[in-house]
Amino acid sequence: MSEMLEKARKYEDEQGKQIKAEDRPAFHVSPYVGWMNDPNGFSYYQGEYHLFYQYNPYDTHWDSMHWGHVVSKDLLHWEYLPAALAPDEDYDKIGCFSGSAIELDDSRQLLMYTAVDHETLEDGSKRDIQTQAVAVGDGRDYVKYEKNPVLTEKDLPEGASKVDFRDPKIWKGKDGNFYCVIGSRPADGSGQILLYRSANGFDWEFVSILAENKKRFGKMWECPDFFCLNGAYVLITSPQDLSADEEFHNGNNSVYYMGSYDKNQHMFHYDAVYSLDDGLDFYAPQTMLADDGRRIMIAWMQSWDSNIRPEGQKWSGMMILPRELKVKDGKILQSPVREIENYHRNGVRYEKQEVQGTCRFDGIKGRVLDMTVEIAGGDFGEFTISVAQNEQFHTDFSILQHKNRIEIDGTYSGMVRDASAIRRVKVKSPCKKWKLRIILDKYSMEVFLNDGQQVFSTTFYTSLEADQISFVCDGKAIVNLEKYDIVVA
Ligand code: FRU
Repeated sequence: MSEMLEKARKYEDEQGKQIKAEDRPAFHVSPYVGWMNDPNGFSYYQGEYHLFYQYNPYDTHWDSMHWGHVVSKDLLHWEYLPAALAPDEDYDKIGCFSGSAIELDDSRQLLMYTAVDHETLEDGSKRDIQTQAVAVGDGRDYVKYEKNPVLTEKDLPEGASKVDFRDPKIWKGKDGNFYCVIGSRPADGSGQILLYRSANGFDWEFVSILAENKKRFGKMWECPDFFCLNGAYVLITSPQDLSADEEFHNGNNSVYYMGSYDKNQHMFHYDAVYSLDDGLDFYAPQTMLADDGRRIMIAWMQSWDSNIRPEGQKWSGMMILPRELKVKDGKILQSPVREIENYHRNGVRYEKQEVQGTCRFDGIKGRVLDMTVEIAGGDFGEFTISVAQNEQFHTDFSILQHKNRIEIDGTYSGMVRDASAIRRVKVKSPCKKWKLRIILDKYSMEVFLNDGQQVFSTTFYTSLEADQISFVCDGKAIVNLEKYDIVVA
């Protein structure tokens, strides 16, 4: 093991265990200590779900990317493992950026990641160069391949930039080969996705430009993922520098493209593009195929533009609760993984309650819970659910029925910076009845609208004493409520 990895492991062991479990989310993955961004290597390997993550153990801001590592048997109860990768080689000294994991034919686990190095230009300035590298291991310790990097500038199609060439997502094809998609920038400065193939996971060859942005959806496309689900082909990317329209918000988005796959040309032609999550905090999703065939997605529950750390907190960033994806009528439906139901405790149910003005209900409060709110009837313009509430704080989710919009308001969610705190989004599948599944875990809210047709993920780092929930209606709404505490021991 390199000195740098040893140092990281020693540091996180000393510092991570000082963070009390009660100061972390109960069932969402947070970094052992320090900074976390993208999920990496989300996979099922030898009886365990593995999740790696972009990790700077030494501070609560982005720097010197390592790979952190956790494992779980059920996607809710996670165990910290020692850091898996450190930027300890000449070719990755600027960072081990995002990537993925897969089981090799000989049962070892392969990690494929973006290695970042510096290049000095003629004028003496430096710029990043990105290549792809691999490491193999046993689910605990990993050794970088001696012939790294495995994909470099010479494997790029004409015009593609060596500065933006990152985030390999690997899978095993039906033909027995490994494939991976990688984000890239063609000469026009926007994004494209490259497809590569390998018989053994170590020797890779360029196959095709799988999909092109052509300056339509942001610029560089980060963190691609490509799969077939319920008979439909889906490409996911996280575009940078998008401008808002009815579907997307400004800045970094995470989007999915539905289309057809030309297997001979290895080209994906998309005809519909949608946002994956309309909350304030969601980026860089990655999916995996579970043992039982479910396509499960995880993502960083944070935004690059609003990543504000509460003072004194020794960890920064977290993941969403993993979600099962399905394709129905050409769109993705998302639902919290069903394993959460094993941790339901203290059920409380109300039927046909009238909400007029502001209402609270006995037993409907808390910061770690799974609650379903159905609006079964009534007449109103706006209906708001205000969570994590006390006299100072609250985070609001509103249905603006008269405008066919959802609004998330994090103005009173403990922010101390002037970043965007309100998001108003079109209701993308118009409906007469409203069903909201709301998952709270101390510092986050994930709202699944109408069986996951639209999802909203948002964080709020406020005092846990703010645990009230109220319902506010400007007319009259008839609601059914079902609420469970989530107790993950
Ligand atoms: C996305 C991203 C990736 C990159 C990583 C670096 O959030 O920019 O493209 O690999 O973060 O930490």
